[in-house]
Amino acid sequence: MESQPLPKKTKAPPPTPEEIERRREARKNEVIPPGVSRREWKKQQKLQRWEETKDQYRQDMRLKKKQQRERKRERLRNDDEYRNSVAKRPKSQIATNVNIAIDCEFDDLMNQKEIVSMANQIRSCYSSMRHCQYELPIQILSFNKRLKERYETSNPEYTSWKGINFQSERLADLITPENKHQFVYLTADTDNDIQELSSGKTYIIGGIVDKNRHKNLCFNKAKEMGLAMARLPIGQYIKINSRDVLVTSHVYEIMCRWFECKDWREAFNKVLPPRKVVQGDDEKDDMNGEEVKRKGW
Ligand SMILES: C[S@@+](CC[C@H](N)C(=O)[O-])C[C@H]1O[C@@H](n2cnc3c(N)ncnc32)[C@H](O)[C@@H]1O
Repeated sequence: MESQPLPKKTKAPPPTPEEIERRREARKNEVIPPGVSRREWKKQQKLQRWEETKDQYRQDMRLKKKQQRERKRERLRNDDEYRNSVAKRPKSQIATNVNIAIDCEFDDLMNQKEIVSMANQIRSCYSSMRHCQYELPIQILSFNKRLKERYETSNPEYTSWKGINFQSERLADLITPENKHQFVYLTADTDNDIQELSSGKTYIIGGIVDKNRHKNLCFNKAKEMGLAMARLPIGQYIKINSRDVLVTSHVYEIMCRWFECKDWREAFNKVLPPRKVVQGDDEKDDMNGEEVKRKGW
């Protein structure tokens, strides 16, 4: 039986003057218990609302997932191109001698929603890793706070995932004067465009969702630690609709795709959502990234 689609969530319009007035009145009638700040009281109210609505929310989410699965099944049945593009997991993977570390030492800089998003992105990296024709193992570093808690409650099977190592060690614990040259911190904030992914290197991706609130965070960390830095050569190949700061899971997946085609343009186009990539005649030829920046893209 086909389930009814849930109504799409839309951004709330700005409050009308009547609504503002209503809120003002409601505020006057608030009864805040003595000894509790308004901020704390609002927090308690929010928690209470969550407790009252969480069952419905979870039910809605289950329905949404079910509908997504139905749509996928339908597409797999009817859309040949889509069916061919959904790669099967390879039986064996080609060695690269490249490692990826996701640096999750930024747990404290994220709110709970961002922690959930980060946990989902790591799961998405795991899926990309399993489907890639090349071996690109992942270490999750500083996995010892809220991100870990999230996994323990929502994805407890993570401990049996293969090729991905969740560990509490920090990045600093892995680096010695002898092995420092093997590490490259990836960051959009350097001018050093990466040309290719090299054997023997460990590429570090920042494990943070911050909508770029914390500018230069990874750049400064890598600089302090004296690590090499590189950015993906986005500006040389494509033009994107926003700043060149990508989410962690896209960065990892682009690396997987690059190994499969050895072509950055193709890797970007395969991974980045079409809405992010500016299509058209002015798609980039091999152009220097700095030039792209000067043009104000
Ligand atoms: C959402 S970004 C984090 C942004 C954060 N404000 C920062 O300072 O890096 C997640 C991570 O993806 C990697 N990343 C994002 N865009 C990149 C790019 N254009 N080139 C290289 N790495 C990138 C970086 O490792 C970054 O830490």
